[in-house]
Amino acid sequence: MTHGRKIRILTAALLVAGIASAALAQTPVPGQPPSAPAPVVAQHAPERASARVEDLIARMTIAEKVGQLVLLSSNRAVTGPYTTPDVTGALERGELGGIFNTYDVAFTRQLQETAVKHTRLGIPLLFGFDVLHGHRTIFPVPLGQAASFDLKAIEGAERIAGREAAAAGINWVFAPMLDVTRDPRWGRIVEGAGESPWLGGQIGAARVRGFQGERLDADDSVAACVKHFGANGAVESGRDYTATSVSERALREIYLPPFKATVAAGVRCFMAAFNTFDGVPGVANRHLLTDILRKEWGFQGVVVSDFGAVEELVTHGIAADREEAAKRALTAGTDIEMQGEAFRRDLPRLVASGAVPMAVLDDAVRHVLTFKEELGLFDKPFGRMDEARERTALFAPAHRQAAIELAEKSLVLLKNDRETLPFSPDVRRIAVIGPLADDRADTLGPWAANGQPDDAITLAAGLRQVLPKAVVEVVSAGSVNGSSPEARAAAVAVARTADVVVLALGEKSTQSGEAASRTDLGLPGDQMELARDVLAVGRPTAVVLFHGRPLVLTPLVKDAPAILSAWFPGSMGGLAIARTLVGENEPRGRLPVTFPRAVGQIPIYHDHLRTGRPPTNPPRPYTASYLDEGTEPLFPFGYGLSYTDFGFSPPRMAPIVKAGEPIAVAVDVTNTGRRPGTALVQLYVNQPVAEISRPVKELRGFQHVALKPGETRTVTLSLTDADLAYWHQDGRWATDAGRFRVMTGANVADLQAAEFTLQN
Ligand code: BGC
Repeated sequence: MTHGRKIRILTAALLVAGIASAALAQTPVPGQPPSAPAPVVAQHAPERASARVEDLIARMTIAEKVGQLVLLSSNRAVTGPYTTPDVTGALERGELGGIFNTYDVAFTRQLQETAVKHTRLGIPLLFGFDVLHGHRTIFPVPLGQAASFDLKAIEGAERIAGREAAAAGINWVFAPMLDVTRDPRWGRIVEGAGESPWLGGQIGAARVRGFQGERLDADDSVAACVKHFGANGAVESGRDYTATSVSERALREIYLPPFKATVAAGVRCFMAAFNTFDGVPGVANRHLLTDILRKEWGFQGVVVSDFGAVEELVTHGIAADREEAAKRALTAGTDIEMQGEAFRRDLPRLVASGAVPMAVLDDAVRHVLTFKEELGLFDKPFGRMDEARERTALFAPAHRQAAIELAEKSLVLLKNDRETLPFSPDVRRIAVIGPLADDRADTLGPWAANGQPDDAITLAAGLRQVLPKAVVEVVSAGSVNGSSPEARAAAVAVARTADVVVLALGEKSTQSGEAASRTDLGLPGDQMELARDVLAVGRPTAVVLFHGRPLVLTPLVKDAPAILSAWFPGSMGGLAIARTLVGENEPRGRLPVTFPRAVGQIPIYHDHLRTGRPPTNPPRPYTASYLDEGTEPLFPFGYGLSYTDFGFSPPRMAPIVKAGEPIAVAVDVTNTGRRPGTALVQLYVNQPVAEISRPVKELRGFQHVALKPGETRTVTLSLTDADLAYWHQDGRWATDAGRFRVMTGANVADLQAAEFTLQN
């Protein structure tokens, strides 16, 4: 064994989150894995809840108990809010724990009144909704927000989203989505924070803090629910709902860290996933839901299934019928069934016959009632139902301002030859060409909750606001999926008359998100042909991309002088983009995910392991190369340009560090260009020799620094032992003593390194 002595970490779970304050107990074990496992956190679930909750449980019938585990969808239809007779019947009998896809104070109040005033026990309802990037004020899609690398701004956006949702009667949001993924074919990559488990944890915790605020029972707070537990980001072939095939190590080191970080941040709800891990779907996966979540991590909140996932156990072939599915899900650790029949139709019988012990049912009910109590629902069931607040909170001016600012921070400048951008604010004629130039719904992006397309400021509208004296001519030139030679010719004619051209290309919002997997990640339809025709005119041209995933931009990067990634930027997105195109805002976003050159390179991500036969350029036989493509990405993780340039010094730190002491890493950053700008210093670590092969570079720190032209500032980033830990072969988190490399710089492919030794 080459890794030398180990530093044992008692609170294994804390390490996953990279929690700086993790208590470290150092137990050097020369050359040996330890014999006895370290104690894990807490036991399974609260033995007893509050007196109120225990009293209720003592008085509930089996049907009422099971009812608390039932969550059904209602809706706000075009004709107005409605419930199905099924939902109304269950509600009136006191056999419904929560309703989702419902908002508006008037409607939620009416439903809550039935629950509280007209049922035997008066237990209040949960109101759940998917609030992925804003409720009414829509922020950039989560992947775009991650590109801001701005935890404060992200937390602020979720505070606003939570406040707006709470003002509309909602008390529970099915967010944040924490699935780490390395497969951009998967449409749901748009909902997460990209490929870095550590960044996913930082952002996930910020989102939970934002939704839940200082107090979960406050009228303007909502409970977050992290999803999809677990390893959903590893679905095979990038297709939704497929199996995963990942090891326990990959589960621990890649897919679980963001979830663990949110437990530390106080999240009270987990959503169990559709997909299998080790052959067992999330909702029936005892290893995930009970052994890890409850026993190891000490989670005492509530676990809800994904939509209809309990009944799908039959389709997966791990339950013979719906009844067995109900039993497997509940006994594995799923408390609430979202939209299905299994719990409500079959559990009463299973419990009455003793096939499912009453104690198991009570435990799940205890989790749900405690969750409701923590939300303040017993004391103030109508606290989030205030019409006056609803009128003023939604799309409030301060919320719109925050949406502009976060949209600006999320923009990533991918290319800017010959300083094509920023355009002069004096331009007189602008041609905005492409299917996404003026589309409101596509400006909002997928899963836009209660976002109203009519509120959205498109790119064309944003340019008109920012350049009121200019003529802004808009040509859609067909749709995202196709144009015609005539439409492209018309676009070319308009480009010829313009001083500058903006090409608005990319995906429709429906081409990203759930059940929106793709195999061809190039620009859909014939947008590349449109781009070529318009670029051939030779006007100064910037491409603005709308997209929810890394696209394969290889031909576009060859031809276009300037490319700005806007993701799906949200309600105020067009204004943020326009201000950036004319230099009122300096682009500062960085990629939270690697952009491949070709789909065949997938999976491609920065924190991969080494190989015994590193790829060579040009490729030599018997190396880890492709015959027909390089192994480097098109754009690496952390990449993004500014309108100015930055220089970075190598990292400086003490050569020898004692375990348990913080490790300070200093970097000098200089603005070497002619405009002010904000650099993002990134810090990566690597352990050159360990018990297992370790990733070549793992992100462990970042910091923004705003600099005037010519200015230099020293940025100090700090590391802890926890940031260096990994899942050892004996099944625990630990940090080894020995050599570590620290790398800092502009992005994962542009770093300078130094080494230190960690001593016990
Ligand atoms: C999705 C979840 C979502 C749920 C409720 C499911 O299809 O996977 O992320 O929360 O629907 O809308």
